[in-house]
Amino acid sequence: MAKPPDLVPVGQDVDGRTGGGGQWERGRICGVPAVDAGQPVCADRTLAAFRPPTFDNPSTTGFLDTSSGVLFTSDCFGALLQDVPQNAADISEGDLREGQVFWATVDSPWMHEVDGGKLAHELDAVAELEPSLILSSHLPAAPGGMIDQFLASLAAVPDAAPFVGPDQVALEQMLAEITALPQ
Ligand SMILES: [Fe+2]
Repeated sequence: MAKPPDLVPVGQDVDGRTGGGGQWERGRICGVPAVDAGQPVCADRTLAAFRPPTFDNPSTTGFLDTSSGVLFTSDCFGALLQDVPQNAADISEGDLREGQVFWATVDSPWMHEVDGGKLAHELDAVAELEPSLILSSHLPAAPGGMIDQFLASLAAVPDAAPFVGPDQVALEQMLAEITALPQ
Protein backbone atom coordinates (compact mmCIF):
# COMPACT_ATOMS: atom_id res chain seq x y z
CA MET A 1 0.00 0.00 0.00
CA ALA A 2 1.49 3.32 -1.01
CA LYS A 3 1.73 5.83 1.78
CA PRO A 4 -0.02 9.12 0.97
CA PRO A 5 2.26 12.13 1.11
CA ASP A 6 0.23 13.96 3.77
CA LEU A 7 0.49 11.20 6.36
CA VAL A 8 1.31 12.67 9.76
CA PRO A 9 2.33 11.01 12.99
CA VAL A 10 -0.06 10.53 15.86
CA GLY A 11 -0.06 13.45 18.22
CA GLN A 12 0.07 16.05 15.50
CA ASP A 13 -3.04 17.81 14.28
CA VAL A 14 -5.09 15.30 12.38
CA ASP A 15 -8.33 16.18 10.67
CA GLY A 16 -10.45 13.77 12.68
CA ARG A 17 -11.55 11.54 9.85
CA THR A 18 -11.94 7.94 10.83
CA GLY A 19 -10.70 5.34 8.44
CA GLY A 20 -9.95 1.69 8.89
CA GLY A 21 -10.50 -1.34 6.78
CA GLY A 22 -6.87 -1.19 5.76
CA GLN A 23 -7.20 2.32 4.35
CA TRP A 24 -4.75 5.06 5.20
CA GLU A 25 -6.18 8.00 7.03
CA ARG A 26 -4.24 11.00 8.16
CA GLY A 27 -2.15 9.90 11.12
CA ARG A 28 -3.08 6.25 11.47
CA ILE A 29 -3.60 3.02 9.68
CA CYS A 30 -5.94 0.64 11.49
CA GLY A 31 -5.25 2.42 14.78
CA VAL A 32 -1.47 2.04 14.48
CA PRO A 33 0.49 5.25 14.02
CA ALA A 34 2.66 5.42 10.92
CA VAL A 35 5.92 7.29 11.19
CA ASP A 36 9.04 7.84 9.18
CA ALA A 37 12.58 8.36 10.38
CA GLY A 38 12.91 11.70 12.14
CA GLN A 39 9.26 11.90 13.12
CA PRO A 40 8.05 11.81 16.73
CA VAL A 41 5.32 9.65 18.22
CA CYS A 42 3.65 11.70 20.93
CA ALA A 43 1.80 10.26 23.87
CA ASP A 44 2.80 10.84 27.48
CA ARG A 45 6.35 10.88 26.17
CA THR A 46 8.12 11.32 22.87
CA LEU A 47 9.33 8.37 20.86
CA ALA A 48 11.55 9.68 18.10
CA ALA A 49 11.68 7.37 15.10
CA PHE A 50 14.98 6.55 13.43
CA ARG A 51 16.22 4.03 10.90
CA PRO A 52 18.63 1.56 12.49
CA PRO A 53 21.88 1.17 10.53
CA THR A 54 21.16 -2.52 9.88
CA PHE A 55 17.82 -4.10 9.03
CA ASP A 56 16.32 -6.91 7.00
CA ASN A 57 13.29 -4.94 5.85
CA PRO A 58 13.16 -1.36 4.57
CA SER A 59 10.20 -0.57 6.85
CA THR A 60 12.21 -1.36 9.97
CA THR A 61 11.95 1.53 12.41
CA GLY A 62 13.74 2.14 15.68
CA PHE A 63 12.72 4.54 18.42
CA LEU A 64 14.42 6.69 21.00
CA ASP A 65 12.44 7.48 24.13
CA THR A 66 13.75 11.00 24.55
CA SER A 67 12.67 11.23 28.20
CA SER A 68 14.50 8.11 29.38
CA GLY A 69 17.11 7.65 26.66
CA VAL A 70 16.00 4.10 25.98
CA LEU A 71 16.81 3.14 22.40
CA PHE A 72 14.73 0.47 20.65
CA THR A 73 16.75 -0.85 17.72
CA SER A 74 14.67 -3.69 16.26
CA ASP A 75 17.00 -6.31 14.71
CA CYS A 76 20.02 -4.01 14.81
CA PHE A 77 22.76 -5.02 17.31
CA GLY A 78 21.42 -8.57 17.54
CA ALA A 79 23.92 -11.36 18.12
CA LEU A 80 24.13 -15.11 17.83
CA LEU A 81 25.28 -16.31 21.24
CA GLN A 82 26.02 -19.57 23.02
CA ASP A 83 24.53 -18.28 26.26
CA VAL A 84 22.02 -15.51 26.79
CA PRO A 85 22.50 -13.61 30.04
CA GLN A 86 20.05 -10.98 31.31
CA ASN A 87 22.54 -8.20 30.64
CA ALA A 88 24.58 -7.83 27.45
CA ALA A 89 27.40 -6.45 29.59
CA ASP A 90 27.89 -9.98 30.93
CA ILE A 91 28.92 -11.25 27.49
CA SER A 92 32.64 -11.23 26.78
CA GLU A 93 33.74 -8.54 24.35
CA GLY A 94 35.02 -11.14 21.89
CA ASP A 95 31.87 -13.28 21.96
CA LEU A 96 29.68 -10.21 21.59
CA ARG A 97 31.62 -8.81 18.66
CA GLU A 98 31.72 -12.18 16.90
CA GLY A 99 28.02 -12.75 17.55
CA GLN A 100 26.97 -9.31 16.38
CA VAL A 101 29.08 -9.40 13.24
CA PHE A 102 27.77 -12.85 12.34
CA TRP A 103 24.18 -11.82 13.02
CA ALA A 104 24.53 -8.79 10.78
CA THR A 105 25.99 -10.86 7.93
CA VAL A 106 22.93 -13.12 8.13
CA ASP A 107 20.26 -10.49 8.72
CA SER A 108 21.69 -7.65 6.62
CA PRO A 109 23.89 -9.24 3.93
CA TRP A 110 23.74 -6.02 1.91
CA MET A 111 26.18 -4.59 4.46
CA HIS A 112 28.99 -6.13 2.40
CA GLU A 113 28.17 -3.71 -0.41
CA VAL A 114 27.92 -0.44 1.50
CA ASP A 115 30.17 2.55 1.11
CA GLY A 116 32.46 2.79 4.12
CA GLY A 117 32.18 6.55 4.41
CA LYS A 118 28.39 6.53 4.33
CA LEU A 119 28.28 3.71 6.87
CA ALA A 120 30.56 5.64 9.21
CA HIS A 121 28.24 8.63 8.92
CA GLU A 122 25.25 6.43 9.80
CA LEU A 123 27.05 4.95 12.80
CA ASP A 124 28.13 8.38 14.04
CA ALA A 125 24.50 9.51 13.94
CA VAL A 126 23.49 6.60 16.17
CA ALA A 127 26.31 7.37 18.61
CA GLU A 128 24.97 10.92 18.90
CA LEU A 129 21.70 9.54 20.29
CA GLU A 130 23.65 8.75 23.49
CA PRO A 131 21.20 6.08 24.69
CA SER A 132 20.87 5.17 28.36
CA LEU A 133 19.72 1.65 27.55
CA ILE A 134 19.77 -0.30 24.28
CA LEU A 135 16.96 -2.75 23.58
CA SER A 136 17.50 -4.93 20.52
CA SER A 137 15.06 -7.64 19.51
CA HIS A 138 17.91 -10.16 19.38
CA LEU A 139 20.17 -9.25 22.29
CA PRO A 140 19.83 -8.97 26.06
CA ALA A 141 19.23 -5.46 27.34
CA ALA A 142 22.43 -3.45 27.15
CA PRO A 143 23.65 -0.40 29.06
CA GLY A 144 23.83 2.65 26.82
CA GLY A 145 27.57 2.92 27.43
CA MET A 146 28.02 -0.12 25.18
CA ILE A 147 26.93 1.81 22.11
CA ASP A 148 30.47 2.46 20.85
CA GLN A 149 31.28 -1.24 21.18
CA PHE A 150 28.14 -2.14 19.25
CA LEU A 151 28.87 0.37 16.51
CA ALA A 152 32.42 -0.97 16.20
CA SER A 153 30.92 -4.40 15.56
CA LEU A 154 28.79 -3.00 12.75
CA ALA A 155 31.74 -1.16 11.27
CA ALA A 156 33.48 -4.54 10.90
CA VAL A 157 30.61 -6.16 9.02
CA PRO A 158 31.40 -5.01 5.45
CA ASP A 159 34.77 -6.79 5.55
CA ALA A 160 33.54 -9.87 7.43
CA ALA A 161 33.06 -13.22 5.72
CA PRO A 162 29.70 -13.31 3.96
CA PHE A 163 27.21 -15.77 5.41
CA VAL A 164 26.63 -18.92 3.35
CA GLY A 165 23.59 -20.94 4.41
CA PRO A 166 23.54 -24.72 4.73
CA ASP A 167 22.94 -26.76 1.57
CA GLN A 168 20.62 -29.77 1.36
CA VAL A 169 23.21 -32.23 2.68
CA ALA A 170 23.99 -30.01 5.65
CA LEU A 171 20.29 -29.42 6.34
CA GLU A 172 19.58 -33.14 6.38
CA GLN A 173 22.51 -33.68 8.72
CA MET A 174 21.17 -30.97 11.05
CA LEU A 175 17.71 -32.53 10.99
CA ALA A 176 19.19 -35.93 11.78
CA GLU A 177 21.04 -34.47 14.75
CA ILE A 178 17.92 -32.73 16.02
CA THR A 179 15.73 -35.82 15.72
CA ALA A 180 18.42 -37.90 17.47
CA LEU A 181 18.21 -35.68 20.54
CA PRO A 182 16.40 -37.22 23.54
CA GLN A 183 12.80 -35.95 23.60
FE1 LIG B 1 13.93 -9.81 14.17
